[in-house]
Amino acid sequence: MRNHLLLFIVWIAVEVRAQVRTGPVLGPVEFRTASVWYALEGDDVWELECWPEANPSSLRRFPAEDFRRFEFRIAKFYLTGLAEGTTYRYRIACSNAKQPPGESASFKTPSLWQYRQPAPDFSFLAGSCAYFNEPAFDRPGRSYGGDSSIFETMSREPAAFMLWLGDNWYYRESDYHSTWGHWYRADRDRGLPHLKKFWKSMPHYAIWDDHDYGPNNEGAAYVFKEEATRVFNAFWNNPPAASPSGGIYTRFSHSDVDFFLLDSRSFRDSDELPDSVGGIPNPDKRMLGREQMNWLKNQLANSKASFKIIANGSNFLNRFNRYDCLVHYPVEYDELMRFIEDERIDGVIMMSGDRHHSDVVCKSLKDGYLLCDITNSALTSGVHRTSDYERSNPDLIASMLIEQNNYTRASVYGSTGERVMKIEFIGVAGQTLSSMEFLQKDLRFAKK
Ligand SMILES: [Fe+2]
Repeated sequence: MRNHLLLFIVWIAVEVRAQVRTGPVLGPVEFRTASVWYALEGDDVWELECWPEANPSSLRRFPAEDFRRFEFRIAKFYLTGLAEGTTYRYRIACSNAKQPPGESASFKTPSLWQYRQPAPDFSFLAGSCAYFNEPAFDRPGRSYGGDSSIFETMSREPAAFMLWLGDNWYYRESDYHSTWGHWYRADRDRGLPHLKKFWKSMPHYAIWDDHDYGPNNEGAAYVFKEEATRVFNAFWNNPPAASPSGGIYTRFSHSDVDFFLLDSRSFRDSDELPDSVGGIPNPDKRMLGREQMNWLKNQLANSKASFKIIANGSNFLNRFNRYDCLVHYPVEYDELMRFIEDERIDGVIMMSGDRHHSDVVCKSLKDGYLLCDITNSALTSGVHRTSDYERSNPDLIASMLIEQNNYTRASVYGSTGERVMKIEFIGVAGQTLSSMEFLQKDLRFAKK
């Protein structure tokens, strides 16, 4: 009898574990809404129970938006009608009484500050290039993926959110010749145990770069790009993409900072095309595409934010990056630089990933405005040793070059009109490797 009871308990435990594959993953948390992501198995109907921490009797239940493809089932829960500035707890619960509810987790909605009080101080994290080993499909030899305990360190940060800057997973040769392969890789990496705490510790936003889009250096010509977009949209809870004609570019705001999340892949002409033809910038070589560039320019013109973060998978400003940077797309590079100067767009800071090292590269614009591109890489992937050539770049802030696994902590603070964004590159164990302050008052063009 005791053996039967034991078997029954094991069966129940296996059933429950098998039904919720991965999650919760916290998506954006706004003043009155929040989103939560799970990967599920089976056909049971699940709801998200959510209640104010201080008032459990006000529990409400929310249905899932369900996405299915092959054997993969994703449930996204959109929590609405929340109160601002309030801590909530939530847990997943099943209509099938055999399944006990999941463990509860919490989030806090931001406080409504506009027209009421100064912009709140906050911090956020950023990083790129997260490679997780799977020896059967990795290149033979030394593992490319490093110490995943960086995510444990990151999960202890009291940050408002994480911004994933691309190469957030790595499709392999075994993945990118089939639609199923794209789903397999995203699902497999999402469920890895060392990420579990991080997923629920703060909201997550993301852009992509080549490796979580398709093969190395892929662009607009990739035949699986629609499927890759489907996977990206299924696995992240970003705000809606800005364009109905494809791509993942979008934006969000937090406190007095606007974030413009670019798509460096969906509209990209090949990196192999010549930068110039007949001595003039090649008009057929674009990275962002006309529509996205117009959108970005209009967004920048409208933005009243103290800092305007433009985030992209590829570098923007590094003239000594021989391969993968907007400078090799001179039509768009010139267009964006000219626009920022001509329209006197204050407070712009660029963030990019991809490089397998972190650095800061800056370009002087008129009136002493120093426009900087903060490269954040790599979370777990192999580290890139920069060449002497790249180190000789006069635009490089040498003290910010970091050649080990790291992430970025960005802290925003200071009084109105004198806000500061402090950028720190943080090592796997949580140690500050380098830091630099960006002052709002320095990122300003002279008044006309
Ligand atoms: Fe990349």
